[in-house]
Amino acid sequence: MTLLSDLSAALGSDAEGHLLTDPALIDAYGTDWTRRWSHRPLAVVRPGSMEQVSGVVSACARHATPVVAQGGNTGLVAGGIPGEDDTAVVMSSTRLDHLGPVDAATRQVTVGAGTTLAALQSKARSAGLVYGVDLGARDTATVGGTVATNAGGLRVCRYGDTRAQVTGLRAVLADGSVVSRLDGLPKDGAGYDLVQLLVGSEGTLGVVTDVRVRLHEPDPPGVSTLVGCRSVAEAVSLLPPTRDRRLAELMTRDGLSLTCAVTGLPMPLPHNWPVYLLIETPDLPDLPDDVEAVVDERLIDYRERHPEAVATLGVVHKYDVSIPLDRLDTVLAQVADLVAPHRLFVYGHLAEGNMHLGVVGPPPDDETIDAAVLGLIASVGGSIASEHGVGRAKAGLLALNRSAGDITAMRAVKAALDPQMLLNPGVVLP
Ligand code: MLT
Ligand code: ZN
Repeated sequence: MTLLSDLSAALGSDAEGHLLTDPALIDAYGTDWTRRWSHRPLAVVRPGSMEQVSGVVSACARHATPVVAQGGNTGLVAGGIPGEDDTAVVMSSTRLDHLGPVDAATRQVTVGAGTTLAALQSKARSAGLVYGVDLGARDTATVGGTVATNAGGLRVCRYGDTRAQVTGLRAVLADGSVVSRLDGLPKDGAGYDLVQLLVGSEGTLGVVTDVRVRLHEPDPPGVSTLVGCRSVAEAVSLLPPTRDRRLAELMTRDGLSLTCAVTGLPMPLPHNWPVYLLIETPDLPDLPDDVEAVVDERLIDYRERHPEAVATLGVVHKYDVSIPLDRLDTVLAQVADLVAPHRLFVYGHLAEGNMHLGVVGPPPDDETIDAAVLGLIASVGGSIASEHGVGRAKAGLLALNRSAGDITAMRAVKAALDPQMLLNPGVVLP
């Protein structure tokens, strides 16, 4: 049997339409959102059930073929696309989009990995609840993808990251076997926590098919305020007290001007400030009298439309980093000096010091600038992979943040669960 006939057998009657090999159809599955990385898959499969996922993974194991799990393909670190042309099967989760009933007693729901974030949020709302993870790509990004990367987004300061929402999951391991923890028991200490091991593992330890998450009671309506700041340090100093933080985003003059120019949004304040702080608080925030600020419900658009605005300038070198807040001002100035004369755009989730740095100008394949910027971030005690994952893009730089002992332990986990190294090889670990 060839690989393709085995894949076809695994999908059964679904193979027609969901086993794709036509380059015109599959090339999009091999291209990262940033357009910095593109590798054609050998084939794309779109399984419609956990059994089909297991059959596909087993077939790939028999043929020693790598499997790359992919959600909405909104990733930014080449973590959901193949590493080399024509050697890997991309397994798209988009058909695994079932929504279970909301359990009123535990406030939990189980959804398919291919459910979009927006569909999960809408399901939660229909039960009078909210899902704690939200990000600009909500209409396309899948719950499985956010679990794979332990995505953060806009509401981490209120509800925590994806890891904090996940109470259970089901996943297919590299040999086709299935791990299932979907009972959602609030307390269950039986053995190793495989659920949390799989969260953030970026498709390298298993293919997640179903996710159980906790939902939250919604907050009463709050107040969104955009504040003009003279510096990053001033924005940090104006962060609301932790208990009042529902959202705390940072933008800068260049990014806001560009976003307004690209989207047609009006400049939000009378003056153009070096830095902007966007906060959502339960009531009007306590701000000094001399700051320029505006209150409006739609202010989030200015922040959410930054990625698309910067992407209009070309292929952007994007860095998703965490920087200690007490050094944020000086470190961002150092990064600007380091990448000059290229343009640097900065925006991000201020409460966590999670900055998205976009450098426009270097050729897409220039990795020296990546190593220089991320080396600087690591040298000041920051993280080189805050909320988008390590992916393929930063696997070679993992030692900037993790000791040799850490990496040896990670390799041991990988070897135990995926001895043939077939699940997303080259992602996370080099
Ligand atoms: C965001 O916060 O806008 C996203 O993480 C995407 C990006 O970094 O551009
Ligand atoms: Zn972000």
